[in-house]
Amino acid sequence: MVIAIDGPSASGKSTVSRLVAESLGFRHVDTGAMYRAVTWKMLDDGVDPADTDGVVHRLKTLRMELDFVSEESGPSALRIRLDDQDPGRKIREAQVERAVSAVAAIPQVRAWCVARQRALASRGDLVMEGRDIGTVVFPETPYKFFLDASPEVRAQRRAAERTAAGENAAVAAVAKDMTERDRLDCSRKVAPLRVADDAIRLDTSRVNARGVADLIIRHLRSRHARAACCPEQK
Ligand code: C5P
Repeated sequence: MVIAIDGPSASGKSTVSRLVAESLGFRHVDTGAMYRAVTWKMLDDGVDPADTDGVVHRLKTLRMELDFVSEESGPSALRIRLDDQDPGRKIREAQVERAVSAVAAIPQVRAWCVARQRALASRGDLVMEGRDIGTVVFPETPYKFFLDASPEVRAQRRAAERTAAGENAAVAAVAKDMTERDRLDCSRKVAPLRVADDAIRLDTSRVNARGVADLIIRHLRSRHARAACCPEQK
């Protein structure tokens, strides 16, 4: 079983996905971390993210290892290693954040990541979050959610996260970067960010993550109960 949770950055999908996975005992997969890790590796190896041929060439020999690790609290979550290196928190740094949308727009990078995301489903039930999980990676899953929030709320949330992490983050600057990343993610040719026709949309502007996660779980339970009593309505 795959639960797809898509949405733009700071829509709350990471926290909500983790809460849903923890409540259901599913594994949690943050696909954004995979694109960030590839971007980090390119930068670390001196490959210009704007040089598509260079990125594609480097990708041919890149090895990505994906393991699930259990933490004391929270669900079992993905740990990513690239050519035996664990990038850790470096994938969250500003230089990676600025370059990731360009790297994620390269069709070969997407195909490379999507193949690995699909393979993870054979390891057990998943909550997978991203931009194209319900539209491209697992379009056949009946469990699709799309989270969004107003641009102001998203910028404030991201700025607060950055400040809590000890970074200097003015809301206006965060909002500007976010708008640009949204523009690139929504306008790329392959797998742009969009709401799947059969996804349930949830606005997280005024509901906290626990509230959104509970809504999703309630929806999944009622759907499950319906499928058990009348399979044709699944
Ligand atoms: O979710 P997060 O903000 O960490 O994602 C970082 C970037 O990775 C996004 O801005 C997008 O360019 C890319 N991404 C993607 N498809 C996904 C997940 C993330 O293109 N499924």
